[in-house]
Amino acid sequence: MGKLMHLALIMDGNGRWAKLRSLPRSEGHKAGAKAAADVVLAASRRGIGYLTLFCFSTENWKRPKAEIDSIMGLFSSEFESLLEKIGSEDIRIVHLGRRDRLPSSLLSRLDKAVERTRENKGMTLQLAIDYGGEDEIERCVRRAIASGEKDISFSTLLSYVDNPDIPSPDYICRSSGERRLSGFLLLQASYAEIGFYDRLWPDWDESMIDTIIEDFNKRDRRFGGI
Ligand code: FPP
Repeated sequence: MGKLMHLALIMDGNGRWAKLRSLPRSEGHKAGAKAAADVVLAASRRGIGYLTLFCFSTENWKRPKAEIDSIMGLFSSEFESLLEKIGSEDIRIVHLGRRDRLPSSLLSRLDKAVERTRENKGMTLQLAIDYGGEDEIERCVRRAIASGEKDISFSTLLSYVDNPDIPSPDYICRSSGERRLSGFLLLQASYAEIGFYDRLWPDWDESMIDTIIEDFNKRDRRFGGI
């Protein structure tokens, strides 16, 4: 059993968590951001090499404008507290997804976080914001064609993903009991183990990282062999 190098998480259930408490959905997202910070710290301390968090999908733009504004505002404000929390953790932050539709205030915070952590050698935290797997595939194909590629094999395509230096995920997990990938890392998920956890995202804490590592270590990965 290889080590869990790249863990990718679909953070789902913020809305339901808030509804259960008769709170506005924005409170669910706020609690979700706190959970995210705890999980990031735990993953870094357990020696995970790459952690990808699905923060906002290309489909999430369909939500009411007020909710989108509150999520984007939360990302901006949470960056500061996330950076503070992970200050001494040697974490490198990278963005995954489209930049062209993100508010400029968020982009400048994101760029600053990427810049400030560029040389860090510990865990890479990949934040998927305005990310969709189908959208990424289209962008890969366009980049490959624009670069003059004639024979586009699968590995050629993979070399044009947003962050080609990041290895494919070993384990993709989703919170809140939903059992689908929703376009997450479509090109990179071929041999990923998949896990579904019932716990709503805002209730996640560092203990979930231990559970995930334990579950992953029980999987028998054969990559098509025997
Ligand atoms: C899904 O729950 C969650 C989102 C669309 C937003 C995720 C954002 C965060 C957890 C904040 C992360 C912040 C940082 C800085 C990493 P949902 O609204 O789809 O929940 P529901 O399915 O119960 O309605």
